[in-house]
Amino acid sequence: MIISRPSDIAPSEITPREAYAERRRFLQTAGLGLIASAGLASGLVQAANVQPQARRKLAPIVKGPYATDEKPTPYADVTTYNNFYEFGTDKSDPSRNAGTIRTRPWTVSVEGDVKRAKRISLDDLLKLAPLEERIYRMRCVEGWSMVIPWVGFPLARLIEWAEPTGNARYVEFISLADPDQMPGVRVPVLDWPYTEGLRLDEARHPLAILAVGLYGETLPDQNGAPLRLVVPWKYGFKGIKSIVSLRFTEKMPVSSWMRANSREYGFYSNVNPEVDHPRWSQATERRIGEGGLFNRRRKTLMFNGYADQVGQLYAGMDLRKYF
Ligand code: MTE
Repeated sequence: MIISRPSDIAPSEITPREAYAERRRFLQTAGLGLIASAGLASGLVQAANVQPQARRKLAPIVKGPYATDEKPTPYADVTTYNNFYEFGTDKSDPSRNAGTIRTRPWTVSVEGDVKRAKRISLDDLLKLAPLEERIYRMRCVEGWSMVIPWVGFPLARLIEWAEPTGNARYVEFISLADPDQMPGVRVPVLDWPYTEGLRLDEARHPLAILAVGLYGETLPDQNGAPLRLVVPWKYGFKGIKSIVSLRFTEKMPVSSWMRANSREYGFYSNVNPEVDHPRWSQATERRIGEGGLFNRRRKTLMFNGYADQVGQLYAGMDLRKYF
């Protein structure tokens, strides 16, 4: 049952006014205000059927490098304050609706300029490298941040396995876009499927991981199960969820957000407090889970605090032009 009658919707499933206002603000800022109400409808309809996957411990996990010593954001915030438009555009929609995604069996298709253009199952992917815990600072373009203990492995391991040819300069990532599992895909808030891209040297950087879990457990559906990208020096939208394809290309891929609004979202999307979003400053951020509305905003750091590790990737580039 995809469309519920109004009487099927429990009062607790109706979007709180505050969350609705926030979603509207983000859609308007993304230049998508006109279709906001269609998104709201899709966010509400699926909630009654949802069977979230059971939480399962992941083991063994080794401590990875680069952990921040900042306090992790509480699990409850990490898993209920999400952007995953395939399940609705409110921050609370993904945690209520994403249980309809079928994450097993799961395969990823590796395509394009690679020697090993193949489909690889999630189980085989997990054999490529040991699982590591990576506690990363994350910064969203909307002006908030979190600290998340991810579980995953370096994206570089999958790239090594794929063996890109000499032509490959970029990797494009593509999310699942199945309207039967993802009610939000019926609403044209973005040009589905969700896509993102990295330059090959960025993708090979040891900070970039493919995550399969957080807080020592399997990835909750709303956080991009079963496999998502995590690139901690870039704005959160680069962290594409529920990945089904990686395509190695010579040409720079165009991401969903660039297609939606190229004036506001560039290919690089490096966290840069000196480059304002066209309609708001990026100088500061609000840490989710810290003391409500009146919490002190903290200064946003260049490359989200990872400048020492990734700065050399952009040596000589004008980071205002390549935002
Ligand atoms: N991936 C897909 N497929 N669909 C999305 O809507 N939203 C992006 C990114 N990946 C998104 C996505 C945005 S805008 C952000 S901020 C992060 O996911 C949020 O990740 P989180 O909910 O795990 O914090």
